Amino acid sequence: MSLEKDLIKKLVKVTSRAAVNCYKFLGKENKKLADKAATDSMRNDLNNLEISGEIVIGEGELDEAPMLYIGEKLGKGYGPKIDIAVDPLEGTNFAAKNLPGAISVLAVSEKGNLFNAPETYMNKLAVGKDVPFDATDIDFPIKKNISNIADSKNKKINELTVCILDRPRHKEIIDELKSLKVNLNLISDGDICGSLLVTDNKYNIDLFLGIGGGPEGVISASALDAYGCKFQGRFIFETDIDKDRAKKMGITDYNKKYELSEIVKGDSIFCATGITNTEIVAAVKKENSKFITETLVTHKESTIEVIKTEEAIT
Ligand code: FBP
Repeated sequence: MSLEKDLIKKLVKVTSRAAVNCYKFLGKENKKLADKAATDSMRNDLNNLEISGEIVIGEGELDEAPMLYIGEKLGKGYGPKIDIAVDPLEGTNFAAKNLPGAISVLAVSEKGNLFNAPETYMNKLAVGKDVPFDATDIDFPIKKNISNIADSKNKKINELTVCILDRPRHKEIIDELKSLKVNLNLISDGDICGSLLVTDNKYNIDLFLGIGGGPEGVISASALDAYGCKFQGRFIFETDIDKDRAKKMGITDYNKKYELSEIVKGDSIFCATGITNTEIVAAVKKENSKFITETLVTHKESTIEVIKTEEAIT
């Protein structure tokens, strides 16, 4: 069984409207308000769909009482049974400062097919489909991954570019990449967009690496699957609280390396609407009496496309 194509249009509307609702908070230096606007909009619109949805990745857990918490049931309660992963505003700093990189994102799968990820960090690796599956691995030394990618792409090592979050925790990796003369694309935030840069050689990113949010990893995996890219992730459980939460979600091996096929099973749909500009989709544009948005949609079974949507200004 697979997801109905019909659902795509409805989900595009959901992220598109979340982006538009976030628009008025751009550059207000208030991450919380921008996030709330996107979250309220997404929750309201998902609730109006003819679906039996459940949030598996959301804005937090029930005890924190956020909107779109993990386990929240959404939709009219009839229609397809789906799991939903949301990040209504990915790149809260970007939105608060009105900088490129903010998107509104969701991914859905049939019930039970999307990994129920705890709110912890994840070590990630993403690579394009032109690199053989066995050439890279999150457990290989950096040098081995880099030289295997260079060989398979027929490039010199100093022609490769790696995208990684610019964080002190990545110092060792960054130093090693520098010593190998690999080019760096150091991003300040937004590792969903960062990982998607391996999907097409036009972005000139040969490898995405490093530690970012686990939930973001699962959402990215849905799109990377449709593109036929490789993705691996390993959650990082530092505290006993992290481990307890993971246990409640059914995770027993805290050191497990997850392959994409274990994170997203079967068919899935991913939608990402630009709030500010990104390499992948353009920002919300205000034109006369309407907003124009761009949404990247990937549906494993049918399509990868950027859809433009118009929303009336109310
Ligand atoms: P927010 O939109 O929640 O601010 O997340 C932005 C982000 O950069 C993610 O893309 C990334 O996975 C995570 O934060 C990295 O976390 P940290 O800033 O703690 O390194």
